[in-house]
Amino acid sequence: MDKKEQVARAALGYISSGNVVGLGSGTTASHFIKLLGESSLRDEVVGVATSISSDKLAREVGIKTVDIDSIEWIDITVDGADEVDKELNILKGGGGQLTREKKVRNKSKNYLIIVSDEKIVEAIPERLPIPVEVLPFGNRTTVKEMESLGLKCKLREGFVTDNGNIIYDCKMEERSDLNKLDQQIKLITGVIETGLFLGGRKVVLVSDGIEVKALK
Ligand code: 5RP
Repeated sequence: MDKKEQVARAALGYISSGNVVGLGSGTTASHFIKLLGESSLRDEVVGVATSISSDKLAREVGIKTVDIDSIEWIDITVDGADEVDKELNILKGGGGQLTREKKVRNKSKNYLIIVSDEKIVEAIPERLPIPVEVLPFGNRTTVKEMESLGLKCKLREGFVTDNGNIIYDCKMEERSDLNKLDQQIKLITGVIETGLFLGGRKVVLVSDGIEVKALK
């Protein structure tokens, strides 16, 4: 079985009847949404989607979805990631939905990340740049301010987020304190959010195609 599908199937075991479930974005999270839709739990949970496409998929497979502001909290969110490190810091936003993904995470009592083993790295960001969602207005000024922090940023051409914003993919010129960098980026006017999901309680399930393990 495909690694992404295998780990998505394992995530089903973490869902209980009556749960409000945060529904992630991307191919791995989509496997999870489809499997949840096929399961007997489908009519016993409600979903909170992290993107317009996840919301559409959930409804197509028969999962009721509700607006994030209509609920007090989310019992568990199941989402994918682009890179996960040994400290369980994660890099997200390959699909560009990082702001909604972070809003949903912040309201979740439990956060379950599902990945295939190629996504495990020593320390994020290793292979991929840090995605940053930016307001289109004045974005060239915003990016200059980001680059003054030691980043090299590239516009994700032709891509618009579900919030009507744009994404810059930013590489660090040299490795620095990620918590500090994240705070500095977010202090720039025009920056909406970054794809750095640092710290916090989470469970990471990893599939190597043979078995699924919890990373910590
Ligand atoms: C979208 C994300 C995705 O979760 C991440 O890109 C992983 O995607 P996939 O499961 O398709 O590999 O952060 O913004």
